[in-house]
Amino acid sequence: MTGLVVREMTIADVPSMAALEAAVSREPWSAELFAGELDMHASERHWLVAVSVGEDGTELLTGFAGFMYIGVGAGAGTREDSVEEGSVDAGEAHLMNIAVDPAFQRMRVARRLLHGLIRAARSRNVDRLTLEVRPDNGPARALYHRFGMDAVGTRPRYYGDGGDALIMWVHGILGDEYAARLDRLAEPEWSDDLVHGPANRIGDEIEEFES
Ligand SMILES: CC(C)(COP(=O)(O)OP(=O)(O)OC[C@H]1O[C@@H](n2cnc3c(N)ncnc32)[C@H](O)[C@@H]1OP(=O)(O)O)[C@@H](O)C(=O)NCCC(=O)NCCS
Repeated sequence: MTGLVVREMTIADVPSMAALEAAVSREPWSAELFAGELDMHASERHWLVAVSVGEDGTELLTGFAGFMYIGVGAGAGTREDSVEEGSVDAGEAHLMNIAVDPAFQRMRVARRLLHGLIRAARSRNVDRLTLEVRPDNGPARALYHRFGMDAVGTRPRYYGDGGDALIMWVHGILGDEYAARLDRLAEPEWSDDLVHGPANRIGDEIEEFES
């Protein structure tokens, strides 16, 4: 299998993630921080990585992204359950981090990662998504805007260097209108196999979809 593959993060990805992070972030996460994410319960975290797979099967990390879930129970129902039962206690997702290797930027890697995370989140009955971003991070803000997110406020001195953060939100991601947005953002060559939700963990079989 060659090409760009988006799959679940594993512990083996951590060194490459930390190296990529160090290359692109003003306040990089450590390898320990990334590894700790895998210790969290599957109802609390979901991380995906994008890898470029060579002819010989070797992988090169091109990007990663992770959600923190809030209000997603270990036995949370599916979207179908909530629609059928009219449940209103949908959960929320917080984008913890997203980064793409500069050599692979503007190739829709982040778009694909976010698309995969959001699709998996919807399958876990998550209805809203939030994040913080630096006001001067134009590329990230443009990416989030593509996914329907709006800036709703500021967190003063949010960052370690004293910088403020913009808070962005999108609500109603379980709805049909948002589903249509996701469809428009998907590239035709992306496989329709659903990215596995956060049930996957180290040792579980990893399934992939190929561009
Ligand atoms: C933000 C980042 C993750 C985007 O990754 P990417 O793979 O280059 O983004 P994509 O190619 O998937 O772009 C998706 C959309 O984002 C927007 N976008 C991405 N980079 C952009 C740029 N440099 N200028 C303007 N818009 C940009 C566009 O709307 C684009 O949609 P389009 O392809 O239809 O034009 C990447 O620039 C990055 O790693 N930056 C450093 C880390 C960072 O700032 N993370 C966010 C922390 S909040």
